[in-house]
Amino acid sequence: MLRLGTVGTGWITQQLVEAAAMAGSFELAGVYSRRADKAQAFADKNHAERVVTDYQELLAIDGLNVVYLASPNSLHFDQALQAIRQDITVIVEKPAFSNPQEMAAIMAALADHPQAKLFEAARHVHTPNFHAVARALGGLPAVQGASLTYMKYSSRYDQVLAGGAPNVFTREFSGGALQDLGVYPVYLAVALFGVPAHVAYFPTLIQTGVDGKGVAVLRYGAYDVTVNFGKTSNSAAPSEIYGLKETIEMDSAGELTRVGLRQDGTELTDLSAQPLKNPMLPEVQDFARVLHAPAEKTNIADYHRWLHWTQQVNQVLYGLRVAGNLRFPADDHE
Ligand SMILES: NC(=O)c1ccc[n+]([C@@H]2O[C@H](COP(=O)([O-])OP(=O)(O)OC[C@H]3O[C@@H](n4cnc5c(N)ncnc54)[C@H](OP(=O)(O)O)[C@@H]3O)[C@@H](O)[C@H]2O)c1
Repeated sequence: MLRLGTVGTGWITQQLVEAAAMAGSFELAGVYSRRADKAQAFADKNHAERVVTDYQELLAIDGLNVVYLASPNSLHFDQALQAIRQDITVIVEKPAFSNPQEMAAIMAALADHPQAKLFEAARHVHTPNFHAVARALGGLPAVQGASLTYMKYSSRYDQVLAGGAPNVFTREFSGGALQDLGVYPVYLAVALFGVPAHVAYFPTLIQTGVDGKGVAVLRYGAYDVTVNFGKTSNSAAPSEIYGLKETIEMDSAGELTRVGLRQDGTELTDLSAQPLKNPMLPEVQDFARVLHAPAEKTNIADYHRWLHWTQQVNQVLYGLRVAGNLRFPADDHE
């Protein structure tokens, strides 16, 4: 069994812990929260062994070998670095780190601590529907670009409109629409098409100084991928990848709940797998598979591909922020 510790007591940690229980490969060794009562409530609900209010204490729990970080974005770096330096594997929520400097320091720590691994919780690129899209893309006679959309109104934007500044909408916590939702279509683009040669980003700023929504263009030389995302509006627009007469369709570049292929404008052939019981289950199963048999050839290849995506997405997100003139305090630690 993998011995898991968690950071953050929000709904996403609950979803991860439920996925880990379904996967049957993890035991919840410890729960960290800044507040003992929150940690205790989470631990009681999920049958955790220990409750701690000190992060170092979490890492020191007997036999703990995996930590899941669902803290605000700007805290990921320090927490991941401390874990890796103690040979503990990190599952870090998206977006993994604020900029390429942080990413480089993490890569150096991983090189010094080969027992520790780093997984970014980019749930959608581990799903059967992502694999169906990748297969369909491989079957296209030519690729002529894509239009990817992920836009969901955030209940936390109500707080912004009321004068507040929730973490996800602050520069201090490396927040904003690109970091929070734009990361999903950017991940898809990188995983399916690679790193773009040039990027442009046109953010719509909100009163907290971050982007509430925005439009980005990823230029690949032979074609462009346009990306539309936001947390201050809703969109039901499908996402598409263009072949010649063929179009691959996705209900949403962040959810990939339904995917299909349309030939020459004809009826859509549904390529969707069965709905997931838990959206995080495929990634958790993938990570557990690699951790259980790290020396197996396919696991080595998968791990390195995912880690490469993490680095590339980090680089593209940073390029987009530079293009959109969006800086974070985390960039000043360079
Ligand atoms: N994969 C997905 O589908 C998905 C969905 C949602 C979020 N996420 C990612 O998960 C991460 C957390 O997002 P979230 O919306 O849950 O963030 P959040 O509510 O702002 O904070 C998450 C947790 O961090 C702790 N925290 C909050 N403010 C803090 C502060 N000022 N200093 C230190 N710790 C603080 C809190 O835990 P305690 O109070 O218990 O210490 C809280 O439960 C982000 O990286 C986000 O991108 C991923």
